[in-house]
Amino acid sequence: MNALRALRLQLDWGADEALAEAPHDRLNDRAPARAKASVAPFPANGASARAWELANTARNPAELRAALAGFDGCSLSATATNLVFADGNPDAGLVLIGEAPGAEEDRAGLPFVGPSGQLLDSMLASIGLDRKKLLITNVLPWRPPGNRTPTDQEIALCLPFLLRHVALLRPRHLLLLGALATRVLTGSSQGISRLRGRWVEVGIPGLPGPVPALPTYHPAYLLRTPAAKRDAWRDLLLLRRRLGP
Ligand code: URA
Repeated sequence: MNALRALRLQLDWGADEALAEAPHDRLNDRAPARAKASVAPFPANGASARAWELANTARNPAELRAALAGFDGCSLSATATNLVFADGNPDAGLVLIGEAPGAEEDRAGLPFVGPSGQLLDSMLASIGLDRKKLLITNVLPWRPPGNRTPTDQEIALCLPFLLRHVALLRPRHLLLLGALATRVLTGSSQGISRLRGRWVEVGIPGLPGPVPALPTYHPAYLLRTPAAKRDAWRDLLLLRRRLGP
């Protein structure tokens, strides 16, 4: 069954033949392009000062989680069932950042456990990665009601916690899943289809140097737009190549 799912994914990635006439190094399909980026400014209000203060006093991920759980400045926390902080290994060099929990994640208190998460797991497995060995989190730790688009205000209130989380994790690489994670971390207003597939350097307050980040499509977008899986596969190969064997 797993083999069948993996085969189907290969077809979605665009595999249409088992062998080409000439050897083809697909790991070197695209040279990594690099661009400087910085954290995007979002409009902030009074509660945001408290969010920055709370986030920046956390000395480790457990303290940050506790600070977030006690923060009532973002109204999303009132409608969510659970705080969805992170899943995986905090010592991993690779951190994946998605958008916001959906219904399943809200129920479980864990990121990417619904349909998007199942696709994400298969995508990771296709390049030999296991979600337990990396760290997965989201821009927003609470589900927006009915999965509506989060407001700039909500994003601004959660951003200090996300940035502090990344600073505490000190990852070697970031994989930005979708437009929102890409926008808040790179500060670019260009669309995800332009930004995906190129490494950018992201400045994180508190870290001595920029962190290389690769924007790619969000798994939920890939579920709606199977034709985009071909590009997502290229992005995964870039990631695999960068991480090394
Ligand atoms: N989509 C996300 O961006 N994050 C999740 O945790 C689940 C779905």
